[in-house]
Amino acid sequence: MNISWYFCETVRINWPTIQTLDMPKIFKTEDGSDTLFDPHYGEYYHSIHGSVQESNHVFIESGLKTIKNQDIIIFEVGFGTGLNAYLTALEANKTTKIIQYFAIEKHPLLKKDWENLNYPNMTADHNTGLFQQLHLAEWENKVRISLNFNLQKIEADLTEFKYHSLPGFDLIYFDAFSPVSQPELWQTEIFNQLFRQCNPGGRIVTYCAKGSVRRALIEAGFMVERLPGPPGKREMLRGSKSAL
Ligand SMILES: C[S@@+](CC[C@H](N)C(=O)[O-])C[C@H]1O[C@@H](n2cnc3c(N)ncnc32)[C@H](O)[C@@H]1O
Repeated sequence: MNISWYFCETVRINWPTIQTLDMPKIFKTEDGSDTLFDPHYGEYYHSIHGSVQESNHVFIESGLKTIKNQDIIIFEVGFGTGLNAYLTALEANKTTKIIQYFAIEKHPLLKKDWENLNYPNMTADHNTGLFQQLHLAEWENKVRISLNFNLQKIEADLTEFKYHSLPGFDLIYFDAFSPVSQPELWQTEIFNQLFRQCNPGGRIVTYCAKGSVRRALIEAGFMVERLPGPPGKREMLRGSKSAL
């Protein structure tokens, strides 16, 4: 068995197979931060080895902090619990950079599903107000969350999404459920569209290191690096569009 495939598929699925009908339900991951289990896709929203740890490693450290622009356009696939948006907004508030954050989500969570997530307690800032603001922001409109962070949540299906109303992306957080449960989201056609929408020098980061995903990203035009993954996972992927 390909090891990267093994890790890609097991850190978010196959954890205690506790499934009840009234989920999504909160579970504690190994770093103490919460995640949700989605009964429809049969997957956790994050790595069972640590939600905050994974999000910081894959999206903030290997993604956001490598983009040197003053103004950064981010596109997230799967707003979900809002964890990536929250950590990104905290990071933006520590800098003079301006971030425009677009996030697509097919199944927005209800308030009862996100309001008890412990993410604000897991960060030094304990910014519960910010976390709530991200979730309460109106869908489809650009909302100023702070001086450095604007958010537009888009309720749509990625497989049917037309990007023409959005600016070019400097960074893509590709945080869909795994290729096992959602193979249609990890296809070359999807990555072709994302590649076209990327600015020169733009990047895509994902927790998944599966060989077929790497090949699909390369086919779409990205130069792809395998990077060390977060604790519990050997590798992750980062793709870059040539800066011309
Ligand atoms: C791994 S979870 C998201 C994790 C999220 N970034 C977070 O920090 O909580 C994947 C997300 O993709 C969403 N999703 C599933 N299919 C989708 C689709 N076709 N288009 C857009 N979003 C989709 C799910 O509802 C879920 O919220």
